[in-house]
Amino acid sequence: MKSSAIAHSNIALIKYWGRSPDHDPNLNIPSNDSVSMTKHGLTRDMHLQTHTTIDFSDAYEEDTAILEGEVLIGKKMKRILRVVNPLRGYANIDYNFKMMSTNDFPTQAGLASSASGFAALAIATVDALGIHFSKEEISMCARLGSGSAARSIHGGFVYWHKGNSHETSYAEQICGPDEFDMNAVIAIVHEGKKDVTSDVGHESAYTSPFNEVRIKKSQEQAKGIRKAILNDDFSEVGKIAEENCKYMHAVMMTSDPPLFYWHPDTLKLIKSIQRIRKEGLECYFTIDAGPNVHCLCRPEDIYELQKMLEKMECINKTILVKPAGDSYVTKEHLF
Ligand code: DP6
Repeated sequence: MKSSAIAHSNIALIKYWGRSPDHDPNLNIPSNDSVSMTKHGLTRDMHLQTHTTIDFSDAYEEDTAILEGEVLIGKKMKRILRVVNPLRGYANIDYNFKMMSTNDFPTQAGLASSASGFAALAIATVDALGIHFSKEEISMCARLGSGSAARSIHGGFVYWHKGNSHETSYAEQICGPDEFDMNAVIAIVHEGKKDVTSDVGHESAYTSPFNEVRIKKSQEQAKGIRKAILNDDFSEVGKIAEENCKYMHAVMMTSDPPLFYWHPDTLKLIKSIQRIRKEGLECYFTIDAGPNVHCLCRPEDIYELQKMLEKMECINKTILVKPAGDSYVTKEHLF
């Protein structure tokens, strides 16, 4: 019972930050709807994807999960089991499993490896166990490993309904990768593990006095950006994404304890993006829980924007991305 899957990471345009206090925190049910673009790296050897193989068999004496050669234990293994165990129960199979996973991008570079990782895990597990689930149902399974993974099941532009139960909190596609013209230049100012994980941040969001406003605004912005994507209105998408990003970082900075994910160079980049926009190349920034910046742009401007950003001393490297396709089952197994 072996299957493999490939999934891409995603960048949130409307952010998931904070779990709904009304539900079991292990379900990762968010306090607001969110929207993302699934990312395909334009570099030949870096597509920003995770490849995962899982095999269930009575030959295994215990469950094993290996990520980039590291055997997962403790909290990391627990997260894998949060996805696999309910599915193993549903399929009524009590075999142990062996899982192996690799990313074609640095795991700790702040490029959201858990979104692609748990999406690939959910798809491969469902397929290996012979379960017939819709993409929306697989999205619910991926959410149990990492909230943002719920969105990486789909390609293109994706809407995650917060819902109010496990069965109603899932992501669906707004439109496919070729239906809305937007690319991004990821400007890496600092590589390395973040000091405070999103997991901890999701817990402290409620301590910020601005969180309630962010939740309310995010609901409006999620609906607004969906409409703008469907209307092929890049300017409106960029504007809403930038605004939503600022709301999330305002909440992070005013939480207890406060979270400052920005590096001084992050602010330099924000200023440069504003300047580049004023000078006529339309681009917008968005930043997840880390110092690196995604600069959203029209596809025809991507190389020009990359050139402009690479002139800045503070940028270590840039990665160009376009919308990715759906995640999928592959016959290429890792073992
Ligand atoms: C800021 O809990 O999905 O990227 O720590 O990678 O599992 P992991 O992240 P997750 O939180 C994501 C937070 C965010 C915003 C977003 O992707 O919506």
